[in-house]
Amino acid sequence: MQSESTSRNEKLHVGIIMDGNGRWATRRGLSRVRGHEAGVETIRRIVEAAPKQGIGTLTLYAFSADNWRRPRAEVAALMTLLRFYLANEVQSLVRNGVRLTVIGRRDRLPDGIATAITRAEEATARGSALHLRIAVDYSARDAILNAAAKAAALTSLTREAFSQLVTGEAGLRDVDLIIRTSGEKRLSDFLLWEGAYAELHFTERMWPEFDASDLTAALAAFHGRERRFGGLRAIVPEEVPSLSRV
Ligand code: FPP
Repeated sequence: MQSESTSRNEKLHVGIIMDGNGRWATRRGLSRVRGHEAGVETIRRIVEAAPKQGIGTLTLYAFSADNWRRPRAEVAALMTLLRFYLANEVQSLVRNGVRLTVIGRRDRLPDGIATAITRAEEATARGSALHLRIAVDYSARDAILNAAAKAAALTSLTREAFSQLVTGEAGLRDVDLIIRTSGEKRLSDFLLWEGAYAELHFTERMWPEFDASDLTAALAAFHGRERRFGGLRAIVPEEVPSLSRV
Protein backbone atom coordinates (compact mmCIF):
# COMPACT_ATOMS: atom_id res chain seq x y z
CA MET A 1 0.00 0.00 0.00
CA GLN A 2 1.26 3.52 -0.80
CA SER A 3 1.63 6.11 1.91
CA GLU A 4 0.24 9.61 1.21
CA SER A 5 3.74 11.04 0.93
CA THR A 6 4.74 8.35 -1.57
CA SER A 7 1.76 9.08 -3.78
CA ARG A 8 2.39 12.84 -3.54
CA ASN A 9 5.98 12.21 -4.54
CA GLU A 10 4.78 10.55 -7.74
CA LYS A 11 3.12 13.79 -8.73
CA LEU A 12 5.12 16.45 -10.54
CA HIS A 13 7.70 18.68 -8.94
CA VAL A 14 7.51 22.14 -10.48
CA GLY A 15 9.87 25.01 -9.72
CA ILE A 16 8.99 28.62 -10.54
CA ILE A 17 11.27 31.63 -10.89
CA MET A 18 8.73 34.35 -10.12
CA ASP A 19 10.16 37.15 -12.26
CA GLY A 20 8.79 40.47 -13.49
CA ASN A 21 7.19 42.02 -10.41
CA GLY A 22 9.21 45.21 -10.79
CA ARG A 23 8.55 45.67 -14.51
CA TRP A 24 4.85 44.89 -14.11
CA ALA A 25 4.60 47.62 -11.49
CA THR A 26 6.71 50.33 -13.12
CA ARG A 27 4.84 49.93 -16.43
CA ARG A 28 1.72 50.81 -14.50
CA GLY A 29 3.28 53.77 -12.72
CA LEU A 30 3.35 51.83 -9.46
CA SER A 31 6.22 51.26 -7.04
CA ARG A 32 8.25 48.06 -7.39
CA VAL A 33 7.03 47.07 -3.93
CA ARG A 34 3.46 47.17 -5.23
CA GLY A 35 4.63 44.64 -7.84
CA HIS A 36 5.93 42.32 -5.14
CA GLU A 37 2.62 42.66 -3.27
CA ALA A 38 0.78 41.65 -6.43
CA GLY A 39 3.28 38.78 -6.70
CA VAL A 40 2.10 37.45 -3.34
CA GLU A 41 -1.47 37.36 -4.71
CA THR A 42 -0.17 35.24 -7.58
CA ILE A 43 1.48 32.87 -5.11
CA ARG A 44 -1.95 32.37 -3.47
CA ARG A 45 -3.58 31.63 -6.84
CA ILE A 46 -0.89 29.19 -7.96
CA VAL A 47 -0.68 27.35 -4.62
CA GLU A 48 -4.44 26.80 -4.87
CA ALA A 49 -4.28 25.67 -8.51
CA ALA A 50 -1.19 23.45 -8.28
CA PRO A 51 -2.61 20.32 -6.59
CA LYS A 52 -5.56 20.32 -9.01
CA GLN A 53 -3.10 20.25 -11.92
CA GLY A 54 -1.12 17.18 -10.85
CA ILE A 55 1.62 19.00 -8.95
CA GLY A 56 2.77 17.36 -5.71
CA THR A 57 5.74 19.62 -4.98
CA LEU A 58 6.03 23.30 -5.86
CA THR A 59 9.28 25.20 -5.26
CA LEU A 60 9.03 29.00 -5.54
CA TYR A 61 12.08 31.27 -5.80
CA ALA A 62 11.19 34.20 -3.54
CA PHE A 63 14.59 35.69 -2.65
CA SER A 64 18.00 34.67 -3.94
CA ALA A 65 21.25 34.92 -2.01
CA ASP A 66 22.19 37.61 -4.55
CA ASN A 67 19.03 39.66 -3.97
CA TRP A 68 20.69 41.26 -0.93
CA ARG A 69 22.33 43.52 -3.53
CA ARG A 70 19.01 45.28 -4.13
CA PRO A 71 18.26 48.66 -2.52
CA ARG A 72 17.82 48.36 1.22
CA ALA A 73 14.18 49.56 1.08
CA GLU A 74 13.21 46.90 -1.48
CA VAL A 75 14.90 44.15 0.54
CA ALA A 76 13.11 45.36 3.68
CA ALA A 77 9.77 45.36 1.82
CA LEU A 78 10.35 41.80 0.59
CA MET A 79 11.19 40.65 4.12
CA THR A 80 8.03 42.34 5.43
CA LEU A 81 5.96 40.54 2.79
CA LEU A 82 7.55 37.25 3.82
CA ARG A 83 6.80 37.99 7.48
CA PHE A 84 3.14 38.76 6.64
CA TYR A 85 2.88 35.68 4.45
CA LEU A 86 4.14 33.44 7.25
CA ALA A 87 1.86 35.10 9.79
CA ASN A 88 -1.32 35.23 7.70
CA GLU A 89 -1.19 32.31 5.35
CA VAL A 90 -0.61 29.36 7.67
CA GLN A 91 -4.30 28.78 8.46
CA SER A 92 -5.24 28.65 4.82
CA LEU A 93 -2.28 26.36 4.04
CA VAL A 94 -3.37 23.97 6.80
CA ARG A 95 -6.99 24.10 5.58
CA ASN A 96 -5.85 23.21 2.06
CA GLY A 97 -3.47 20.43 3.14
CA VAL A 98 -0.33 22.30 2.09
CA ARG A 99 2.96 21.48 3.80
CA LEU A 100 5.29 24.48 3.77
CA THR A 101 9.05 24.26 4.02
CA VAL A 102 11.54 27.04 3.43
CA ILE A 103 14.89 26.34 1.78
CA GLY A 104 17.96 28.57 1.90
CA ARG A 105 19.93 30.29 4.65
CA ARG A 106 18.12 31.48 7.74
CA ASP A 107 20.95 33.08 9.68
CA ARG A 108 20.95 36.34 7.66
CA LEU A 109 17.18 36.94 7.83
CA PRO A 110 15.85 39.83 9.94
CA ASP A 111 14.97 39.08 13.57
CA GLY A 112 12.00 36.82 14.12
CA ILE A 113 11.67 35.47 10.58
CA ALA A 114 13.61 32.25 11.21
CA THR A 115 11.34 31.53 14.20
CA ALA A 116 8.24 32.34 12.13
CA ILE A 117 9.47 29.92 9.45
CA THR A 118 9.95 27.11 11.97
CA ARG A 119 6.47 27.73 13.39
CA ALA A 120 4.87 27.71 9.95
CA GLU A 121 6.72 24.52 9.02
CA GLU A 122 5.57 22.83 12.22
CA ALA A 123 1.98 24.00 11.83
CA THR A 124 1.72 22.73 8.25
CA ALA A 125 3.81 19.56 8.69
CA ARG A 126 0.84 17.20 8.23
CA GLY A 127 -0.27 18.66 4.88
CA SER A 128 -0.42 15.99 2.18
CA ALA A 129 -2.08 17.70 -0.81
CA LEU A 130 0.94 19.79 -1.80
CA HIS A 131 4.50 20.32 -0.61
CA LEU A 132 5.20 24.03 -1.02
CA ARG A 133 8.90 24.91 -0.80
CA ILE A 134 9.76 28.58 -0.70
CA ALA A 135 13.37 29.47 -1.47
CA VAL A 136 14.58 32.41 0.62
CA ASP A 137 18.20 33.63 0.75
CA TYR A 138 18.75 30.68 -1.55
CA SER A 139 21.64 29.76 -3.83
CA ALA A 140 21.75 26.35 -5.51
CA ARG A 141 25.52 26.56 -5.78
CA ASP A 142 25.81 27.23 -2.04
CA ALA A 143 23.44 24.31 -1.32
CA ILE A 144 25.71 22.03 -3.37
CA LEU A 145 28.85 23.47 -1.77
CA ASN A 146 27.48 22.96 1.75
CA ALA A 147 26.47 19.41 0.87
CA ALA A 148 29.97 18.75 -0.46
CA ALA A 149 31.50 20.03 2.79
CA LYS A 150 29.29 17.64 4.79
CA ALA A 151 29.98 14.78 2.38
CA ALA A 152 33.73 15.20 2.84
CA ALA A 153 33.41 13.51 6.26
CA LEU A 154 31.76 10.40 4.75
CA THR A 155 33.60 7.35 3.48
CA SER A 156 31.08 6.42 0.80
CA LEU A 157 28.45 8.45 -0.97
CA THR A 158 25.52 7.68 -3.22
CA ARG A 159 23.53 10.10 -5.34
CA GLU A 160 20.56 9.64 -2.99
CA ALA A 161 22.65 10.43 0.08
CA PHE A 162 24.19 13.50 -1.57
CA SER A 163 20.76 14.60 -2.75
CA GLN A 164 19.51 14.53 0.81
CA LEU A 165 22.45 16.72 1.85
CA VAL A 166 21.69 19.21 -0.94
CA THR A 167 17.92 19.37 -0.52
CA GLY A 168 17.67 18.73 3.22
CA GLU A 169 15.11 16.01 2.50
CA ALA A 170 15.14 12.28 1.92
CA GLY A 171 13.44 11.16 -1.27
CA LEU A 172 12.57 14.57 -2.69
CA ARG A 173 11.44 14.12 -6.28
CA ASP A 174 13.73 15.68 -8.87
CA VAL A 175 12.30 18.79 -10.48
CA ASP A 176 10.28 17.91 -13.57
CA LEU A 177 9.64 21.42 -14.85
CA ILE A 178 11.09 24.86 -14.17
CA ILE A 179 8.96 27.83 -15.22
CA ARG A 180 10.35 31.37 -15.45
CA THR A 181 8.06 34.30 -16.04
CA SER A 182 8.84 37.71 -17.62
CA GLY A 183 10.69 36.53 -20.73
CA GLU A 184 14.11 36.10 -19.09
CA LYS A 185 15.79 32.84 -20.01
CA ARG A 186 18.16 32.00 -17.18
CA LEU A 187 18.25 29.65 -14.22
CA SER A 188 19.81 32.22 -11.88
CA ASP A 189 21.29 29.69 -9.43
CA PHE A 190 17.94 27.91 -8.88
CA LEU A 191 17.65 24.12 -8.25
CA LEU A 192 20.82 23.22 -10.16
CA TRP A 193 21.09 19.76 -8.57
CA GLU A 194 17.40 18.84 -8.36
CA GLY A 195 16.73 20.24 -11.82
CA ALA A 196 19.41 18.25 -13.68
CA TYR A 197 16.77 16.80 -16.03
CA ALA A 198 14.09 19.47 -15.65
CA GLU A 199 12.23 20.69 -18.70
CA LEU A 200 12.37 24.49 -18.99
CA HIS A 201 9.40 26.71 -19.78
CA PHE A 202 9.84 30.44 -20.35
CA THR A 203 6.83 32.72 -20.67
CA GLU A 204 6.53 36.43 -21.40
CA ARG A 205 3.85 36.80 -18.72
CA MET A 206 4.96 38.86 -15.70
CA TRP A 207 4.60 37.06 -12.38
CA PRO A 208 1.78 39.34 -11.05
CA GLU A 209 -0.36 38.46 -14.09
CA PHE A 210 0.46 34.74 -14.15
CA ASP A 211 -2.63 32.67 -13.37
CA ALA A 212 -3.99 29.11 -13.26
CA SER A 213 -4.49 29.09 -17.04
CA ASP A 214 -0.81 29.99 -17.57
CA LEU A 215 0.12 27.10 -15.29
CA THR A 216 -2.14 24.82 -17.34
CA ALA A 217 -0.43 26.01 -20.54
CA ALA A 218 3.04 25.41 -19.08
CA LEU A 219 2.03 21.89 -18.00
CA ALA A 220 0.46 21.17 -21.40
CA ALA A 221 3.74 22.18 -23.08
CA PHE A 222 5.62 19.99 -20.58
CA HIS A 223 3.40 16.98 -21.29
CA GLY A 224 4.00 17.52 -25.00
CA ARG A 225 7.75 17.11 -24.57
CA GLU A 226 9.48 13.78 -24.95
CA ARG A 227 11.69 13.10 -21.91
CA ARG A 228 14.24 10.37 -22.53
CA PHE A 229 16.72 10.84 -19.66
CA GLY A 230 19.59 10.00 -21.97
CA GLY A 231 17.90 6.90 -23.39
CA LEU A 232 16.01 6.41 -26.62
CA ARG A 233 12.55 5.71 -25.23
CA ALA A 234 10.11 8.38 -24.01
CA ILE A 235 9.62 8.25 -20.23
CA VAL A 236 6.28 9.33 -18.73
CA PRO A 237 6.23 11.18 -15.36
CA GLU A 238 5.21 8.04 -13.41
CA GLU A 239 8.28 6.21 -14.73
CA VAL A 240 10.89 8.89 -14.09
CA PRO A 241 14.03 6.98 -13.04
CA SER A 242 15.37 7.28 -9.53
CA LEU A 243 18.59 9.23 -9.04
CA SER A 244 20.72 6.09 -9.01
CA ARG A 245 19.43 5.05 -12.42
CA VAL A 246 19.58 8.42 -14.19
C1 FPP B 1 11.62 39.01 -9.27
O1 FPP B 1 10.99 40.09 -9.90
C2 FPP B 1 10.96 38.77 -8.00
C3 FPP B 1 11.60 38.76 -6.80
C4 FPP B 1 13.05 38.96 -6.66
C5 FPP B 1 10.84 38.57 -5.57
C6 FPP B 1 9.73 37.56 -5.63
C7 FPP B 1 8.90 37.81 -4.46
C8 FPP B 1 7.56 37.69 -4.38
C9 FPP B 1 6.75 37.17 -5.47
C10 FPP B 1 6.83 38.11 -3.15
C11 FPP B 1 7.46 37.80 -1.84
C12 FPP B 1 7.44 36.36 -1.54
C13 FPP B 1 6.83 35.78 -0.47
C14 FPP B 1 6.92 34.32 -0.29
C15 FPP B 1 6.08 36.51 0.54
P1 FPP B 1 11.81 41.43 -10.10
O2 FPP B 1 11.50 42.35 -8.98
O3 FPP B 1 13.26 41.13 -10.26
O4 FPP B 1 11.17 41.98 -11.41
P2 FPP B 1 11.91 42.81 -12.54
O5 FPP B 1 12.89 41.86 -13.17
O6 FPP B 1 10.78 43.16 -13.43
O7 FPP B 1 12.56 43.99 -11.88
